[in-house]
Amino acid sequence: MKTTISVIKADIGGYVGHSGMHPALMALAEDELEEAKKQGKIIDFFVAHAGDDLELIMTHTKGVDNAEIHELAWNIFKKGADKAKEMGLYGAGQDILSDAFSGNVKGMGPGVAEMEIEERPSEPIVVFMADKTSPGAWNYPLFKIFGDPFNTAGLIIDPKLHDGFIFEVLDMKEGKAIKMRCPEEMYDLLALIGAVEHYAIKNVYRKDGIIAATASTQRLSYIAGKYVGKDDPVMIVRAQSGFPAVGEILEAFSLAHMVAGWMRGSHWGPLMPVSMKDANCTRFDGPPRVVALGFQVKDGKLIGPKDMFDDPAFDLTRKRAQDITDYIRRMGPFEPHRLGLEEMEYTTLPSVLEKLKDRFFKVD
Ligand code: F6R
Ligand code: MG
Ligand code: MG
Repeated sequence: MKTTISVIKADIGGYVGHSGMHPALMALAEDELEEAKKQGKIIDFFVAHAGDDLELIMTHTKGVDNAEIHELAWNIFKKGADKAKEMGLYGAGQDILSDAFSGNVKGMGPGVAEMEIEERPSEPIVVFMADKTSPGAWNYPLFKIFGDPFNTAGLIIDPKLHDGFIFEVLDMKEGKAIKMRCPEEMYDLLALIGAVEHYAIKNVYRKDGIIAATASTQRLSYIAGKYVGKDDPVMIVRAQSGFPAVGEILEAFSLAHMVAGWMRGSHWGPLMPVSMKDANCTRFDGPPRVVALGFQVKDGKLIGPKDMFDDPAFDLTRKRAQDITDYIRRMGPFEPHRLGLEEMEYTTLPSVLEKLKDRFFKVD
């Protein structure tokens, strides 16, 4: 039996403002998924949140891109959005870009990361969920996990990891992808994935083709053609025996690396690893946060979660994230705190330029 893990998320309304999630929306999602489990549509589920994003973690046997599973998630988001409207929650229905479901939630607002696996006798996975950032936020940690021996000792020590991995990189603007082998093509790979607003790692495979990690790469701004909210990403990473150890996976988040998408989707800031109880974006609507939930998957059952960043070992990273926050906030509207011009095109900037265009004069 093959097991599919589907993580489908959406911002259907924030509490308070864009900072967090109201428990009523999580309760609604839990009830709906409990019912779906009873009906045998899914094997198991867990409902989580990262900031103002509702995260549905589901297991089933229907494969990726399955219409029934996507519709299940879609209907929960629709019902949740109605509830959010009723309660006057903020930005209710923000990620519901269409009224009619057309077989797949991709391109309709929600973010999706899914993988179909042949379960190993013990199958540890970690599900990452971030708020106030965008899909390119995973490029740095995914490279550290699967490409950098200074992060992942197994790349050198473990014969099963020693061959390296294949990175599938998506050009988010052109909508095309390329598979690159690492370490053979490491420098070319880094040339692309360092441009986090343009390229995002979609999948990572072992050299034998087995899936190791998958990330959501929907970009709401490109989907809707104007700024309609962010595309806070999720990803699933497999761990141990033939994959990086859980600790090597988490290690990649120890820097509090800089990510794009904070306040009004228009600022860079440090990605702070937090437990789910601390996944509330407060200061300047942030700083950007990431939650990691670990599970053992057994016959499709989700044993867990273990809240992986609920650990003093990440206190120093959190302190660093706060120091960076304090520092970079002083920059106010100046780059590099504020995103560059190209990424500001969905803000008021074009209208400011339009207003001033006749007042520019020639200089020698
Ligand atoms: C939304 C977000 C927030 C909002 C900001 C302004 O995910 O990150 O920083 O962009 O709170 O929100 P509006 O324009 O809805 O008042
Ligand atoms: Mg929001
Ligand atoms: Mg969000």
